[in-house]
Amino acid sequence: MDDNITMNETTQAINLFQHLINIEDLSTSRIYSLFADAQKFIDKGYHLSPQLTALNDQTLVNLFFEPSTRTRISFELAAKRLGVKVVNVHIPFSSSEKGESLLDTIYSLHAMNCNLFVIRHHEENLLVEISEQLSGNIHLINAGNGKRSHPSQALLDTFTILQYKKQFDNLSIAIIGDIAHSRVAHSQIAALKKLGATDIRAIAPNALLTDDLGISHYENLEEGINNADVIIVLRLQKERMAKDILASIDDYQLRYSLKPQHLSLAKPEAIVMHPGPVNRDVEIDSALLNHPQTVITQQITNGVAIRMAVISQLCHQKIID
Ligand code: NCD
Repeated sequence: MDDNITMNETTQAINLFQHLINIEDLSTSRIYSLFADAQKFIDKGYHLSPQLTALNDQTLVNLFFEPSTRTRISFELAAKRLGVKVVNVHIPFSSSEKGESLLDTIYSLHAMNCNLFVIRHHEENLLVEISEQLSGNIHLINAGNGKRSHPSQALLDTFTILQYKKQFDNLSIAIIGDIAHSRVAHSQIAALKKLGATDIRAIAPNALLTDDLGISHYENLEEGINNADVIIVLRLQKERMAKDILASIDDYQLRYSLKPQHLSLAKPEAIVMHPGPVNRDVEIDSALLNHPQTVITQQITNGVAIRMAVISQLCHQKIID
């Protein structure tokens, strides 16, 4: 927990946590308090205090309009470990296929006492617009919107970095790949900046960058990962990419695929991360997936603890002490 955070700030942050839509909305104290709760869940082997039964009357709904494995299932597991009931809506067979708006779907499910809505959707402002119209005991959790935002992924990624590196101030963090289409990268950069990281590097061809990120840019992989403490690799998100944006996948692979020999350019204790899903041997060499410096499995495991912290704090529960 950050020593500079006053009780007042913490209390204020706790009171204001109605939805998790963008990392930018979270105070630094909120982020550290989520990290602290996630670490407690891990330390206690997910055994929870008796007050936890209070969450038995909560119901979480997964509404995924885009594919997901890790995010959807870890929200489900996180909720179930907290005693929260879970409903998974199969979108192709739901009323959204008949033209019902997401807001009306939420109201219908709320009428059945559902109150936590985990939503993945391609429209980037939809959750903000919906949150402005909602009233009552309803919490929205953004599970990834278009290429804009994926806050729970950024929280689990920065939590994982903190576990290995203990602080953010002096870290060099290199993000390799399709930053332009990555909601993960956008939220990671926002979270890293909030937490004090100053040396954040984008390593990508110009075509895979946006110019509004306020971080340094390297077109050359070797130069970009020089002395890095953290290397984050991203998938080519072809589903959001204009055709022919890249000369060829082979050329991309040649210039940007992370290989074991690249690690000698980074710091000796550097960690390699990837939000998943991985396209083996496209953005990262298969041999790196089981490498001792690769922490992808740890990221996935941490995802459940972070999402438990998010759900319990949204429900305003102080459930672990
Ligand atoms: C990412 C996503 O969906 O944005 N995956 C995830 O949630 N773990 C990244 C990706 O799809 O490449």
